[in-house]
Amino acid sequence: MSTQKVLYIEKSKGPFVVSDGPVLKPAAGQLSVKVISAALNPVDWKIQAYDFAVSKYPAIVGTDAAGEVASVGEGVEGFSKGDKVFFQGFFTNEQATFQQYTLVPADLVGIIPSNIDSDQASTIPLGFSTAAFGLLASHYAGLDPTLEFKTKHTGEAAVVYGGSTSVGQFAIQIFRLLGYSKIIVNASGRHGEFLKSLGATDVIDRTQVPAEKFAETAKKIAGVPIKVVYNSVSDGGEAHSTSLATLAEGGVLVDVDPEKKGSVAGKKVYGVFGSAHVPTNKEFGRVIWKILPRLVQEGSIVPNRVEKVPNGLAGIDGGLQKLKNNQVSGVKLIAHPQETA
Ligand SMILES: NC(=O)c1ccc[n+]([C@@H]2O[C@H](COP(=O)([O-])OP(=O)(O)OC[C@H]3O[C@@H](n4cnc5c(N)ncnc54)[C@H](OP(=O)(O)O)[C@@H]3O)[C@@H](O)[C@H]2O)c1
Repeated sequence: MSTQKVLYIEKSKGPFVVSDGPVLKPAAGQLSVKVISAALNPVDWKIQAYDFAVSKYPAIVGTDAAGEVASVGEGVEGFSKGDKVFFQGFFTNEQATFQQYTLVPADLVGIIPSNIDSDQASTIPLGFSTAAFGLLASHYAGLDPTLEFKTKHTGEAAVVYGGSTSVGQFAIQIFRLLGYSKIIVNASGRHGEFLKSLGATDVIDRTQVPAEKFAETAKKIAGVPIKVVYNSVSDGGEAHSTSLATLAEGGVLVDVDPEKKGSVAGKKVYGVFGSAHVPTNKEFGRVIWKILPRLVQEGSIVPNRVEKVPNGLAGIDGGLQKLKNNQVSGVKLIAHPQETA
């Protein structure tokens, strides 16, 4: 069995350590992928700090990747060795992305569109999926389970709380494709022009307008009742309650905290779980991976801006510390596992 470099969390709440691990062969229906770019996400440091989602240690994490097909499992059609692909990893050592080779079910993989590189491609899977599941899938807000964007919401207003987060950037683009006339977001003011290029119509500068003034400000800008809000910020509660206060009665709040759900004062709340790999999400996940590469190729969905961390897998821990300390603003950190010493 050949070996590779992997990044392990050694034990519950233990340190990240670069080590050697096995390169696994793909089972039927799977691809083995050489990981060229792996994006860093808040969930990666949260698993290390709080110990959830993984079931055994040493554990490999990482849920976003782009790379090259290394080998193809039995029964897989439509992919060949060398194809450039992007996909979501999962919280198992076989399918996590902070390693040089990983496995992925072939029905949840896309060919990287020719207008982006592998760094950019690796920024898309989790962020886009978390926005798309919550807003579009029928088991969440259900705004367009076909992902065809044929029904338009002209004259309506939508809000993204946390517009410059990775997830928020994709939520803005989805609202634009759904045809909302007003897409109101909050972010640091310096991201205003960029977020408008994605589809935001109004950017409320969070360095000037405090959270307690956000609902009032957004409602005034909207001019119509705000029937949908996407909250992409987990800050212990303020972002969630501000989002609820912004929403009109009868409206829908999608929240990145999967624990948030139910009905509050006639407002429906959907906490989203953005992984295509869990059984409840798999069907819509397959729809995403059928359509997403085309949306990117035609420029309807653009990736996050990237910032590379140095030293391959060894640089990931430092990058995750920056994410944890809120030192990452409007970009996605990515690593190149093949550059590990
Ligand atoms: N449920 C799921 O499946 C799922 C999936 C993915 C992510 N998540 C969660 O969703 C959250 C966002 O993840 P991400 O990767 O998109 O984040 P990210 O890109 O790392 O977020 C960084 C951004 O957060 C913004 N921000 C921080 N506090 C804010 C606040 N109070 N109001 C508005 N913006 C604020 C900053 O904005 P400025 O720079 O503009 O100030 C910064 O650009 C995380 O908590 C993550 O764990 C959940």
